[in-house]
Amino acid sequence: LILGALTLAKGGIAQDMSELPPALGPKVYKGVSLPEVRSYHEWHNLRAPLLKSIFQTEVYGRLPTPNSLNLISKTTVDEAAFGGLGRLEEAVLTSDAHKVRLHVAYVVPKTPGPHPVVIVTAFCGNGSTFSDNRLSLPAGGLPEFCARFKNMPPSATDDPDPYLIAPPVEALLKRGYAVASFSTADIVIDDKATAIIPLHLLNPTAPPNERLGAIAAWGWGYSKVIDFLETDPRFDPKRQAIYGHSRNGKAAISAAAFDKRIDLVFAHQSGRGGASLSRSPVGEQVSNITGGFPHWFAPNYARYGDDPNRLPVDQHELIGLIAPRPLLLGAGVDDQWADPEGAWQAAIAATPVYQLSGHKGLTQTTRETPNLSADIAYFLRPGRHGTTLSDWGRFMDFMDAHFKTPRKP
Ligand code: GCU
Repeated sequence: LILGALTLAKGGIAQDMSELPPALGPKVYKGVSLPEVRSYHEWHNLRAPLLKSIFQTEVYGRLPTPNSLNLISKTTVDEAAFGGLGRLEEAVLTSDAHKVRLHVAYVVPKTPGPHPVVIVTAFCGNGSTFSDNRLSLPAGGLPEFCARFKNMPPSATDDPDPYLIAPPVEALLKRGYAVASFSTADIVIDDKATAIIPLHLLNPTAPPNERLGAIAAWGWGYSKVIDFLETDPRFDPKRQAIYGHSRNGKAAISAAAFDKRIDLVFAHQSGRGGASLSRSPVGEQVSNITGGFPHWFAPNYARYGDDPNRLPVDQHELIGLIAPRPLLLGAGVDDQWADPEGAWQAAIAATPVYQLSGHKGLTQTTRETPNLSADIAYFLRPGRHGTTLSDWGRFMDFMDAHFKTPRKP
């Protein structure tokens, strides 16, 4: 698994990815010069804090100011949801300073706990996650595209649409997982015309070019859900997984880099600004994403649009911040916009950080054959953008493999 010799092709032009700075190599940033990392101690104490700061300044924006949300209400929606397998509840959390009202819906297995939990982001509201229209709608109502999913039955085939808006909750409950869901719209509505003010309110102290982006704001949503779950003994604080697809996959992977309480991540087809290297020439480019979605990142990120090789960090270092925690990356052959190859390269390049901590990182040798018990697993499946039932199958197997023996002391 050596990166140097690998090349990526774009329109017949081969680009040498050897320009990618090694995750453990020396680094100079704004006058701070750090030598090569030789131990996990050095990584953890010297390199990781610098990387977290650079990712905020140059890519995601300054994270929300520290704040715990207040619990306003907690209600039982269904004592016997999913054929009696679980209990469905809803909590409302608010922050006046941040002007956030977050609805967390969750289903807890009826079997004895504490339960491992998977936190998902709902594209079409918590009601779609749990197929229950008694749950609150997200701020601003449902996005227009959700009409397309209305009444779409869960499909046994590998259709990538139904599972995009609703995970296989029953299967998760049967495997012993609690499921929690929140809408990113409750944090910031995904609209470039209106997002800037709420983003500013989440961190009014950020310099203008480091203004919080929606991706990290949504990522902070996972952390706020964890604040809440950790007050409830029915959930196991050592087995908290998060899932996000596409833009929410970007949010999930950044959340895990900044929040150590997240024990395992499935970032599916997360693409640019997610698991895929910013330097990669395949699919969506930094200039495309910052042009199309200027509210997603710190304004600084757009400055690298003409030459991402100038970026002082890349996404393999973000994955390094997740090490040694398990990370699953899913990709689709027909989803080149999300740059499957760039995520594979990032996983390879992050592996030395896992090795430094006594783990193995990525161990599979081909993109199509994930080793689901490895620390980093990657799969490239046929088909397009979306989440299929078999994608979820792999995710559940990955959680089963890693949550059998909790890794935290
Ligand atoms: C757009 C965007 C991607 C994003 C995707 C999604 O295609 O360019 O970066 O991942 O939307 O969230 O589905």
